Amino acid sequence: MTGKKHVVRAALAAGVLTAASLGAVAVAGSASAAQLPDGPKTRIVGGTIAHTADTPWAIQLSNSGSPDPTGEYCGSTLVAANKIVTAAHCTTEPASTYTAIQGRDVLSDKSTGKESKISNIWVDPEYGKSPGHDVAVLTLATPFDGVPTLPLETDKAADAVGAASIVYGWGDTEDTGPADTFQKVDVPVLGDSYCSDVYASEGYTPDGEICAGYEDGGKDSCQGDSGGPLVLNGRLFGVVSWGVGCADAGNPGVYAEVATYASELQAQIDS
Ligand code: ARG
Repeated sequence: MTGKKHVVRAALAAGVLTAASLGAVAVAGSASAAQLPDGPKTRIVGGTIAHTADTPWAIQLSNSGSPDPTGEYCGSTLVAANKIVTAAHCTTEPASTYTAIQGRDVLSDKSTGKESKISNIWVDPEYGKSPGHDVAVLTLATPFDGVPTLPLETDKAADAVGAASIVYGWGDTEDTGPADTFQKVDVPVLGDSYCSDVYASEGYTPDGEICAGYEDGGKDSCQGDSGGPLVLNGRLFGVVSWGVGCADAGNPGVYAEVATYASELQAQIDS
């Protein structure tokens, strides 16, 4: 149903508050985290701590209207000194309410990192009209000059089953660790046929979306990770888009397929 998808995509506000009060409900994530060497320090759902020094193109897209005190809102990726790619569904607020943050692992630690306001928002014009298209390009008022950028994946066949992609973000951990701390998790490509099957009623679109994660759940991106990078072979492969719950068996993460939209995104990046 469109309604269901809308719920999981839309409300970071609801997602953050819900996750905070969920406690022990996040069984899949907790069980998986317990088996990892980091134990209780693991982050995301079933992931580990990451460092923006290693992935300087990973940008926090914070918003002044976020219910989170740090402003944590969505992820994004630096693709040019003055351009970030994020999810279309992350761009519903006025441009003046966003701040892009580079190089800050722990969002409450405002002594680290660089910030920029957003001067322009471009949203894929087909978003909301046809399935997929959950991509947007934002222009930074203050370019992050000298910060390494991530190139776009342009090969539509890159989403072969088993491709070893990694997702990054500051989003909800479902009690596998505190949120608002940069983290990563391996999410292999599960393939279009798997998500076309399990997400038939949610409207998964193989032409424009990537299905990644685990059939048994345990590791996934989650609320607040939206818009952030799914990386494969040093390229921006996907953009965190939606899922039903997080890290639950049979409900993997869905990512906007960058290769499908690469030429329109590149046109915006170059503009
Ligand atoms: N819609 C979420 C957001 O706005 C991202 C959901 C990703 N869900 C998942 N199970 N991978 O932050």
